[in-house]
Amino acid sequence: MKTILITGGAGFIGSHVVRLFVNKYPEYNIVNLDALTYAGNLENLKDIDTKPNYTFVKGDINDGIFVNNLFDKYQFDGVIHLAAESHVDRSISDPMSFIMTNIVGTVNLLNSARNAWKENFEGRRFYHISTDEVYGSLGKTGFFYETTSYDPHSPYSASKASSDHLVRAYHDTYKLPIVITNCSNNYGPNQFPEKLIPLAIHNITNNKPIPIYGKGENIRDWLYVEDHAIAIDLVYHKGKDGETYNIGGHNEWTNISLILQLCKTMDIKLGRAPGESEKLITFVTDRAGHDLRYAIDSTKIQNELGWAPSLQFEEGIEKTVDWYLKHADWLENVSSGAYEKYYEKQYANR
Ligand code: NAD
Ligand code: DAU
Repeated sequence: MKTILITGGAGFIGSHVVRLFVNKYPEYNIVNLDALTYAGNLENLKDIDTKPNYTFVKGDINDGIFVNNLFDKYQFDGVIHLAAESHVDRSISDPMSFIMTNIVGTVNLLNSARNAWKENFEGRRFYHISTDEVYGSLGKTGFFYETTSYDPHSPYSASKASSDHLVRAYHDTYKLPIVITNCSNNYGPNQFPEKLIPLAIHNITNNKPIPIYGKGENIRDWLYVEDHAIAIDLVYHKGKDGETYNIGGHNEWTNISLILQLCKTMDIKLGRAPGESEKLITFVTDRAGHDLRYAIDSTKIQNELGWAPSLQFEEGIEKTVDWYLKHADWLENVSSGAYEKYYEKQYANR
């Protein structure tokens, strides 16, 4: 029986990874370590939380002693590290929490893995989940490859770039068995409504303005979250030691065209007249240091591990909208309280 630590499992992507591993591998013990920040929500896992191979531990990866004790207690065979501060706008207003969790928290986990595993690395793996934002911003053409130089622009992407470098440094210096993936923008159920798609769904539903930064010309490459979870499973089990794999949707949209498509879907789902929802589009002040375009070349993971996205965007966005409309209570719960305050502050002067 293997024991795997998944960090950040109560968050958006982490909850899909935990669910996949708990259901697919009854022979693994899955320990989900999460601090339950504003972005962590145990509601995301209520369908699997009584399974015998699942344990939830509330704790902070910034606390090195706690993390060491956890490794002593559970003797992990592997780590899939997703815990992070993940929202670019928050990193602009509060960089320090990104430095702490994304850099110091990652190093705490690396140190604990190294202490626990000594030099006995057989069957062990430290898998660090990262982002395409470390590569910076593309012009109108070209792609991010695994060999593209790092050029992060936001405190978020700079903190993720730092953690990637540190993970590689522990591999090169101490031979810690690692693997890293850099993925493009995810969308789907359980994403916190500070991110573009769930924010827009929430606002359209409630007839509130949809804030579009700048002219809406920035481009993102969108991937359905369950396809990312499938890729993570493949890389954890079959990825080569020390390697990096890019993961992307081959699905580029300008923000404005994505929102127009989403508005069309919402009009149909909410029984509104065509064109009704797009009247809510409001252009607001641009994000500082806003990267123009992200686009991933995922040939390596396709050729080496046989992964490709399974869902077309039209299908994925419809599934996503259906999920949020069916889970209006989830959206309302996470949109109230502290989040409301953040939202008011974030958009106050835009
Ligand atoms: P999220 O913000 O939805 O979830 C992050 C989770 O980490 C939350 O459950 C939170 O409680 C937990 N967490 C935060 N700080 C912690 C701490 N100090 N100790 C323990 N737990 C803590 O994030 P997400 O969108 O699911 O992203 C997960 C990972 O994937 C991140 O590392 C992110 O950089 C990466 N990533 C995200 C995307 C995307 O589009 N969302 C794309 C590529 C890579
Ligand atoms: O590329 C991967 C990254 O994708 C992840 O590493 C990050 O964790 C994740 O948050 C995401 O970052 P983005 O900044 O691309 O996602 P976000 O949903 O915040 O914004 C998507 C685009 O939409 C971006 O160009 C900014 C724009 N935007 C965003 C918000 C929240 C708006 O125009 N209006 C908004 O209100």
